[in-house]
Amino acid sequence: MTATTVVMTELHMTGQPEFDGQFFPAILNREGDETSLPDVLTWVRENRDSLDAKASQSGAILFRGLPLVTANDFDAFIRAFDYPNFRYEDSLSNAVRVNRTERVFTANEAPSSITICLHHEMAQTPVYPSRLFFFCEKPADAGGATPLCRSDWLFDRLCRELPQFARNCEEKGLLYTNVMPAENDPTSGMGRGWQSTFRSESRDTAEQRMRELGYSWEWLDDGCLRATTPRLQAVRELPDGRKTFFNQLIAAFHGWKDSRNDPAKAITFGDGTLLNPADVDRAAQIAEELTFDVPWQAGDVALVDNYVAMHGRRSFEGRRIVLASLVAS
Ligand code: FE2
Repeated sequence: MTATTVVMTELHMTGQPEFDGQFFPAILNREGDETSLPDVLTWVRENRDSLDAKASQSGAILFRGLPLVTANDFDAFIRAFDYPNFRYEDSLSNAVRVNRTERVFTANEAPSSITICLHHEMAQTPVYPSRLFFFCEKPADAGGATPLCRSDWLFDRLCRELPQFARNCEEKGLLYTNVMPAENDPTSGMGRGWQSTFRSESRDTAEQRMRELGYSWEWLDDGCLRATTPRLQAVRELPDGRKTFFNQLIAAFHGWKDSRNDPAKAITFGDGTLLNPADVDRAAQIAEELTFDVPWQAGDVALVDNYVAMHGRRSFEGRRIVLASLVAS
């Protein structure tokens, strides 16, 4: 085994939620003298399996103190994990993004005043990543934390406090409806156009793709497309038996608002029945209680298991550059 100079120690920060003696997220801080990027990459390769297991168990790992500065450094760090890449072009995500390297893109181009509610990445579509990486190139002047929430803890609480709602979510699943513009609209947190989403310039090919994916749809007079997903799971069982609140219910119900979309119409149970807004509000409240806000410093990286933890974005002031990369299943 190659000896490296990288020593990472687990630490705790104020505000980390704790449950059954576990803190969330896991925080690994590099100790000691200067180190080089090649040494860090070697350390990742040597510890890849245990880091992967730690991310799944704890939901997320925050790495601090690494010598990562640029998008290319971040790209190299991700590659050291040797995960399959999940390409934005292949996704049905509704966010507008800009690629910085083949694997790295800006987390969301939505304006700084917009708060992005907690969600599992792309759980509102049939195609989602298994993990996400975030990298802080430049923190905001104020605000701009990335909230992270343990979704298995959340589902546990829902089963105890709102058992009927939890059962409905698990048994019925969810349908999501979203009105997409033709062209990308960067002023919206969900402004990706239908041509980009379904990788098609014509209505015919968009319809073909929606048919394959099990969507239903309606073309609107202004060229927009109202698309409804097939029934998607709202609760996911992990290989170790934990159940997570794997969906975009909170984000869709509270956040899918722009000039085209009314959050009240964005989501129903899988049988078409309506959600009780009080239940969703309570779920959002519990999620907030279980949330840790990642206080970004330049060079920080977070590895999030998308099946275990939700993420979002707090509003901010000034320029904030947080880059992201997705891992395929
Ligand atoms: Fe996201």
